[in-house]
Amino acid sequence: MDSHRWWREAVVYQVYLRSFADGDGDGIGDFRGLIRRLSYITELGVDAIWLSPCFRSPQRDSGYDVADFMAIDPVYGTMADFEAFVDAAHSVGLRVLLDLVPNHVSSDHEWFRAALSGGDAQARARFFFRPGSGPGEPPNNWQSVFGGSAWSVADDGSAEWYMHSFDASQPDLDWNNADVLEHFDVVLRHWFDLGVDGFRIDVAHGLLKADGLPDWPGTEDGTGGHNRAQWDQPAVHDVYRRWRGIASSHPTGEKYLVGEVWVPSRDRMHRYVRADELHHAFEFDLLVQPWSAPRFRETIDRILRDQPPEGPVWTLSNHDVHRTVTRYGQTQVLDRPDPTDMLAAARRRGPVDVELGTARARAALLLLLALPGAVYLYQGEELGLPEVLDLPDSARTDPVWSRSGGAQLGRDGCRVPLPWSRTQRYFGFSTMEPWLPQPDGFGAFAADDQIADPGSTLTLYRSAIASRRSLFRSDPGLEWLPSPPNVVAWRRGDSSCVVNFGTKTVLLDTDDAAPLASAAAIERHDRVVHLVPQGALWARGEVGFVDRRAHGSRQTTPDAAREELQSTAI
Ligand code: NOJ
Repeated sequence: MDSHRWWREAVVYQVYLRSFADGDGDGIGDFRGLIRRLSYITELGVDAIWLSPCFRSPQRDSGYDVADFMAIDPVYGTMADFEAFVDAAHSVGLRVLLDLVPNHVSSDHEWFRAALSGGDAQARARFFFRPGSGPGEPPNNWQSVFGGSAWSVADDGSAEWYMHSFDASQPDLDWNNADVLEHFDVVLRHWFDLGVDGFRIDVAHGLLKADGLPDWPGTEDGTGGHNRAQWDQPAVHDVYRRWRGIASSHPTGEKYLVGEVWVPSRDRMHRYVRADELHHAFEFDLLVQPWSAPRFRETIDRILRDQPPEGPVWTLSNHDVHRTVTRYGQTQVLDRPDPTDMLAAARRRGPVDVELGTARARAALLLLLALPGAVYLYQGEELGLPEVLDLPDSARTDPVWSRSGGAQLGRDGCRVPLPWSRTQRYFGFSTMEPWLPQPDGFGAFAADDQIADPGSTLTLYRSAIASRRSLFRSDPGLEWLPSPPNVVAWRRGDSSCVVNFGTKTVLLDTDDAAPLASAAAIERHDRVVHLVPQGALWARGEVGFVDRRAHGSRQTTPDAAREELQSTAI
């Protein structure tokens, strides 16, 4: 495999292992199932797989609660199964990224157990144990991302509290502690030596906390609730310099690091992707945008004008946010400032127009793949799966659901096991009842039917990923094309991308429209292409917008354009 900065233009497919394919019939996805279905991923045409956490874990937060960073969770298979997967992936040219969770461990991790049972100072120093600030009062006012206080009373008779930025079962590590720092060096090297090509770093901005753990005065500084004592400390960068050193000097070639970095400004984000730190950090700003041409254009423009050195990483979906079909099929709120937290796109909202959401999600894919930089796709998006909003309460497993007392649905709905076959039991995912129930209607999205259907979302993904290489890969720049206000259009190299966010068909003048449409078949009259609302098109060469009056149709006046803009707030 050519290892020269492969990540810069990569398409990476996120496998949520638990829900991908079950190979041993226990209702939970695993490595054997993944190996059996690997050709599905190669046929998608992606460059790499990002695997959600697969280390030993009691799974109270789906593996983001690690009990042993050096071991594979038996529910996913053995170490031999893992190695067989890495070999199989490499043999078909796929790189493998694992998910590292350094901010916290599981309360089942031997370090935390030792810290609780013995009360030994050295064991406790790897975590944040503190006395309360008063009777029944936690040490400070910090909040858990999952809701409620970031502190719980230790269950060891000490009357001290311990900190957890997420669930109470995920105690935060103290990264000032040398044991912690040194252990992760060993962890990185261990998996790199086994052939892993890189890591996605969970909560990369969280590892250090402000000295003295001071109370946070609140949100009046306009950072949207981002607690600057709890997150994004300057010393965190020393950790990434150390890790970049390990990644760059690996004897088999440079390994890759991509961070989940939720910080309130580009300036802060840039600090994580300096030449000697992480290679990449996700651009979540696009993911949190409503479906609106001005908002998308402005966000893309802002990111491209101020790019990280290794280029941007685009994504619209992952295991923490409601699926795009559902998000874009709901009321689009245009007048809210960008949220700065990871659960922003996983909040309960109103009814869903699945047809509209599907058309928009398909258009969004073409938009994403035509951008310069890397693209991360989340499993199931290629099937056009909607979020499963009506899971039975008893089936929900996400701590966000339980800690919010059901006020937030949480993230189970985007983690429902994939439908492989319309006719098989459990839609071919498993021979036993899956860990999360699949809705009856899931068969309509089955992969086997979609493979054979030229109009399916899966076919769109396959052909778009393949065409991206020839159409857009070469040119790092992007030139905006003049377009009506509800349309986003740019040229990159020899090709153009046009997305119609509005409610009216737009007419394009082009001499070579590539046969890729998101919502409906492209209607073409000589040089003029009719791009329907929520349609997207890739074309070779530049496209122009045709005056609709010249074609017997109303011209888009500024007033009418404003009207269209408002009507996207359905
Ligand atoms: C971010 C991960 O993506 C999410 O799934 C997890 O719950 C939190 N970090 C805590 O590890």
